[in-house]
Amino acid sequence: MLAVISLKGGVGKTSICLGLAATAWKAGHRTLVIDLDPQANATSGLDPEPYEFTTNDVLADGRAGIAAEAIVASKWGPGIDLIAGERALEHRAHAEGPDSALRLRTALAGSLDRYHTILIDCPPSLGELTRNALAAAPAALIVTEPSYFALQGAEQALEAIEVARAATNLGLRPAGIVVNRVRRSSEHSFRLAELRRAYPQLVLDPPIPDRTAMAAAQGAAAPITGLRATGAQDLARLFTELAATIEEGLS
Ligand SMILES: Nc1ncnc2c1ncn2[C@@H]1O[C@H](COP(=O)(O)OP(=O)(O)OP(=O)(O)O)[C@@H](O)[C@H]1O
Ligand SMILES: [Mg+2]
Repeated sequence: MLAVISLKGGVGKTSICLGLAATAWKAGHRTLVIDLDPQANATSGLDPEPYEFTTNDVLADGRAGIAAEAIVASKWGPGIDLIAGERALEHRAHAEGPDSALRLRTALAGSLDRYHTILIDCPPSLGELTRNALAAAPAALIVTEPSYFALQGAEQALEAIEVARAATNLGLRPAGIVVNRVRRSSEHSFRLAELRRAYPQLVLDPPIPDRTAMAAAQGAAAPITGLRATGAQDLARLFTELAATIEEGLS
């Protein structure tokens, strides 16, 4: 299980989450995406069957194992499921009570056995929703663009992982830093090299390039692996390699 995090919005958390979900599913692994973002972009991207409950209901209820009741199938096909997000999650961005960051972990207990790959798409902040993800997952994947703020953003995300480890989840590890939307420019090469220098063990290969097929997949609510658009198959291959690097790093 991986929590996909970043402080900054729009760097590609949801795209990376869905890309990794698509290749895991395509490889025959039962896959679950948990959408903790009030924007619910992962939910739209996965085109779910009709559902009654969302992560907001799961967090509100908080009973052990209750998350199982909120699992809904994606119309991508058999073997990929979702716990949907919704706008009302906005009201859960702040801590409420001493165990507020542990609600997701408790609710997920015992509901995940049939899944090989579980990805939690987080909102672009390190608030209570992300803290819930960091308390529930054994590893966190940091997403960044190769920008001026990337170093600082990665550092703060790593700090948040440390804080969550100490507070709620002693086994939590960084799964690495995915650099997304890389273009062939000297600025991007410079920022990528800078990140690699600062975090040689953590920057993951391959970086994910900027490709219109990524937006096309989200727009079509389709897996990147199933698109004919130019670049989609390249991206699918890169996601497969990225998943292998992540797995290797965690094993
Ligand atoms: N590698 C890429 N190439 C081209 N477009 C991309 C790429 N990655 C993401 N995008 C586009 O950038 C936009 C933001 O991506 P995405 O929604 O995945 O980011 P996010 O970090 O989840 O955003 P938020 O913080 O709002 O949740 C989307 O329109 C998406 O299609
Ligand atoms: Mg997102």
